[in-house]
Amino acid sequence: MKTPMLLRCMALIALAISSPALAQTPAVARVESPGHVLAVEVTTDNDGRPSYAVTRMGRPVIAPSRLGFILTDAPKLDRHLALTPGATRSVDETWEQPWGERRFVRNHFNEMRVTLTETSELMRRFDMVFRLYDDGVGFRYEFPDQAALRTVRIGQELTEFNIAEPGTAWWIPGFEWNRAEYLYNRTPIDAVGVSQTPITLRTDSGLHVSIHEAALVDYAGMNLQRVEGRRFRAALTPGFTNAAVEREAPFPTPWRTLEITDTAGGLVMSNLILNLNEPNAIGDVSWFKPMKYVGIWWEMHLDRSTWSSGPHHGATTENALRHIDFAATNGFGGVLIEGWNTGWDGDWFGNGADYSFTEPYPDFDLERVAAYARAKGVQIIGHHETGGNAFHYEQQMEAGFALDQRLGIHAVKTGYVADAGGARVAGPDGQPTLAWHESQAMARHHLTVVQAAAAHQVAINAHEPIKDTGLRRTWPNWVSREGARGMEYNAWGQPGNPPEHEVNLVFTRLLAGPMDFTPGIFGMVTRAPDGVATTWAKQLALYVTLYSPIQMAADLLENYEANPGPFRFIRDVPTDWDDTRVLNGEIGDYVTIVRKDRHSDDWYLGAITDESGRNLTAPLGFLDPGRRYRAEIYRDGPAANWNPRDGRREDIVIESREVTSADTLDLRLAPGGGQAIRFVALGRRSTR
Ligand code: NOJ
Ligand code: CA
Repeated sequence: MKTPMLLRCMALIALAISSPALAQTPAVARVESPGHVLAVEVTTDNDGRPSYAVTRMGRPVIAPSRLGFILTDAPKLDRHLALTPGATRSVDETWEQPWGERRFVRNHFNEMRVTLTETSELMRRFDMVFRLYDDGVGFRYEFPDQAALRTVRIGQELTEFNIAEPGTAWWIPGFEWNRAEYLYNRTPIDAVGVSQTPITLRTDSGLHVSIHEAALVDYAGMNLQRVEGRRFRAALTPGFTNAAVEREAPFPTPWRTLEITDTAGGLVMSNLILNLNEPNAIGDVSWFKPMKYVGIWWEMHLDRSTWSSGPHHGATTENALRHIDFAATNGFGGVLIEGWNTGWDGDWFGNGADYSFTEPYPDFDLERVAAYARAKGVQIIGHHETGGNAFHYEQQMEAGFALDQRLGIHAVKTGYVADAGGARVAGPDGQPTLAWHESQAMARHHLTVVQAAAAHQVAINAHEPIKDTGLRRTWPNWVSREGARGMEYNAWGQPGNPPEHEVNLVFTRLLAGPMDFTPGIFGMVTRAPDGVATTWAKQLALYVTLYSPIQMAADLLENYEANPGPFRFIRDVPTDWDDTRVLNGEIGDYVTIVRKDRHSDDWYLGAITDESGRNLTAPLGFLDPGRRYRAEIYRDGPAANWNPRDGRREDIVIESREVTSADTLDLRLAPGGGQAIRFVALGRRSTR
């Protein structure tokens, strides 16, 4: 039986169907989002060229934009196409995340399917599925099983995004050597070059748009090429041949996604990417516990010890035991140990062929360290740096994950350090060949790893990864990844991240999913010319503003031991949330996010700013109205400033006061500063 919602939705779909002839009658199909906020119209012109357009409350957001494909071994698929209506449906369901930034996710959309069939004698066809939410649109192509198109070799996807209004764009360049590790450009939309996704736009009328993709499975990652003006076209990551993608039909493409909201915070609140992914395919993952971790890590980036063997080797048994003791004492779940395995001594960068994922260096007693960790209730986080050599890794990983499982290791950080285009995969002949990090081959590789890891109850945190497209919903052991400039850039002997960087991340990279940014540095002087360009309070606030189910306390242990006051917040802050809300924010300028702990009644607040100091207000209406809370506040002190010429990064004030949901807090953030607050629920809930 049809629901009234479905009837309403169907009534909105007006279709004029053309007859299959060469000169075609233009056709149009239309669907609206459940709350009538967004609408999509798909049309074909009199030449049978399909396009789609998006409006919000009747105003154009995406002007008519082309759809279709250039194939490498068959005529292109972009005109002489007749549009026919397919099924429509409405869904309103709520599903539960095993871990996440919120426990329950509402999936509420209207869907429209259309079929595009060639009017020429080939009669090839594909479907387009549009899902409309009130805060975004997803659409994808589906190639059915058909005799005329069995193996689909896609040279180019012709999908376009023709931005209706002028505005500003935040973006990082595509196809550059350093993959995703660039600072964000802020330019007019019509000055973007080739951009990675997510790309974030703010139009002159104040609309916020994030373009990305969801469910990147067995397909090439999409960049966006600005063609002219504000018109962008999908630019697929190259494959082995002139085809970026080679698939046997039937198959769907990834979803092309548009989050469209009237505030910047609305983008952060959107669940579009997760909702467009398939439900959990691996069942119970309770063996993975969201956690904080310390590690033998920052000391290598500071050049105090080495991944390679020798007198300064970082991953010694003794150093590992010290980190395990520290983690156990401070209630942290994990200890990352990098440089434990043989293979680092040669030319590992972009090579990776020498790595063993089972053989420890002689000065690292793996069995003893693992037994010690188990006895202390701490997990070792394994490390599999591959140097980008996925080919070599695929031959070794099974043994590596089996070893992890035997030792009680339930999380592994992988790494693919190699310049863009320099990853190695098995080519069509089974021999190693070079590939891009976001190629179809690497998309396959990452899922091969995640599935092999799941079979051994191991969670994956990939660095130098393929972009996040929400696959954690389907494979919830893919828990985090890097995929942007992380904290490590603040360690090296080159310019680090400027104060606006983390605020940019919240509204760009983090819209794709969790990031292993590795916050929590107190030792602000490093090898980078500006060191760590934030205040201490901002370091603490990053635990709330940059979501990841695994969060590193990245600094040297002695910096935590010497500063128990601010370290307290890092000890307290959870990494698994019941709910998340954005109190305020502007892209690249500032943001305040509050999250409720999944395992207590406590709330946490993180506010961060760019190089400008700010006064923000935080109405506490999110708190339970029936309760009192002790606000444990970690704020920038009067002399706090990211810039050592103007103040002190370390100036932090830690204070407590009682608050209720009726209060509003004034947050004073220093230049490059932040504020972190834990709201501890007091007493019992009153029955008001
Ligand atoms: C780059 C990663 O991002 C970093 O975290 C890691 O320490 C090094 N590669 C070595 O694997
Ligand atoms: Ca990296």
